[in-house]
Amino acid sequence: MLLERIDALKEQINALQAANEEQLEALRIKYLSKKGEVTALFNEFRNVPAEQKKEFGQKLNELKNLATDKLNALREGFKAQAKEANKIDITRPAMPEKLGTRHPISLVRKEIIDIFARLGFTLADGPEVEDDWHVFSALNFAADHPARDMQDTFFINADDKDVKRNIILRSHTSSVQVRTMEKKQPPIRIICPGRVYRNEAITARAHCFFHQIEGLYIDKNVTFADLKQVLLNFAQELFGPDTKIRLRPSYFPFTEPSAEMDVSCMLCGGEGCGFCKHTGWVEILGCGMIDPNVLEASGIDSTVYSGYAFGLGIERITNLKYMVKDLRMFSENDVRFLDEFEAAH
Ligand code: DAH
Repeated sequence: MLLERIDALKEQINALQAANEEQLEALRIKYLSKKGEVTALFNEFRNVPAEQKKEFGQKLNELKNLATDKLNALREGFKAQAKEANKIDITRPAMPEKLGTRHPISLVRKEIIDIFARLGFTLADGPEVEDDWHVFSALNFAADHPARDMQDTFFINADDKDVKRNIILRSHTSSVQVRTMEKKQPPIRIICPGRVYRNEAITARAHCFFHQIEGLYIDKNVTFADLKQVLLNFAQELFGPDTKIRLRPSYFPFTEPSAEMDVSCMLCGGEGCGFCKHTGWVEILGCGMIDPNVLEASGIDSTVYSGYAFGLGIERITNLKYMVKDLRMFSENDVRFLDEFEAAH
C-alpha cells in the first residue's frame, strides 16, 4: 500500500509543471510542507514493520529528494527566464537623445560670416595675445592715445627699464587687418571674427571680453560708395529687406573719413520707441576709408590702392536680434538661456 503510494507520488512529481512562482510555491506546500503529501508519508513510516523500515526509509528519502530537486529545477528555470528578460537588447532603436544647442554668439557669427562670404569675403585670423604694433601703432594710434591706457588694455608683460610694456590682449580685431596687409598685397577682401579683451568692470552692459568681426577691402579705386553699398546689403540680409541704414561722421585713428552706422530700429521700424530711445535708429558698427598711414605702415602703396574697413561687436548684434538684455548671459552657460536658441538653428 505505502509502496504504491510512493510510486504514484513519484510519477506525479516527475510530471510537475509551474507557470509562475506562485504556482511553484503552491506545489511546495502541496508536497513538502508540514502537511504536505510527502511529509504525510514520513508520518506513516512509524507503522511500517521493523524489517521493512530500511527499504521504505530509502524509498521515502528518494521521494523527498526527488520532490526537492524537481521544485528546485523549476525555480532555476524561472530565474534563468528572468535573467534573459533583463538582458540589454542591443538591436532596440535608441531613445531619441536631446542634442545640445549652438551658442547664440556662434549662431550670429555664422550668420554674419555667411552674408559676407556671399559677397566674396574670405576668413582671416590672428592671435589674441598681440603686440602693441599690431593693435595700436600700425593702426595710427598716437603714442598717448587713451586706448593704450591700463584702464582699457590688459598688458601681459611688465614695464621694464629697457623694454616698454608691449605684449597685450588685443582690444579689437583691427589687429588682423595689419597682419593680413603685412602678408599679402591687394586685392584683399577679408572678414575676421574673433575674441577681444578690455579691462572693464563686468556689468550687464560691459564685459572684460567679447567678440568682434572685422571687415577689410583693399583694391584699386575702392570708394566710400562701395562701403555704403556693402553695409546696406549686410544690414538688410541680417535684419530684413526693409531695413534702412544711416552713416554718422565719427572718428577712428585708422580710418579717414570715419563713420558709425545705425540701422532703422528693428522693433518700431523707425517710428521711434522705447528700445531706440525714440530716435528710430540703433547703432551697430564703426567703419571708414582706411587711413593712408595705415596702408603705408603695412607696406601697401597708398597712391595706388585704397580700401575700407568696418568693425562690429557680435554681442551687440545678438542683443539686437534676440533682445538679450544682460551681456553676462553669454558667458554664464545657463542652459535655460542657451536652450532658448534651439529654434534658431
Ligand atoms: N576697432 C573698432 C573698435 O573696436 C571698431 C572699428 C571701427 C573697426 C571702424 C574698423 C573701423 O575696422 O573701420 O571699436
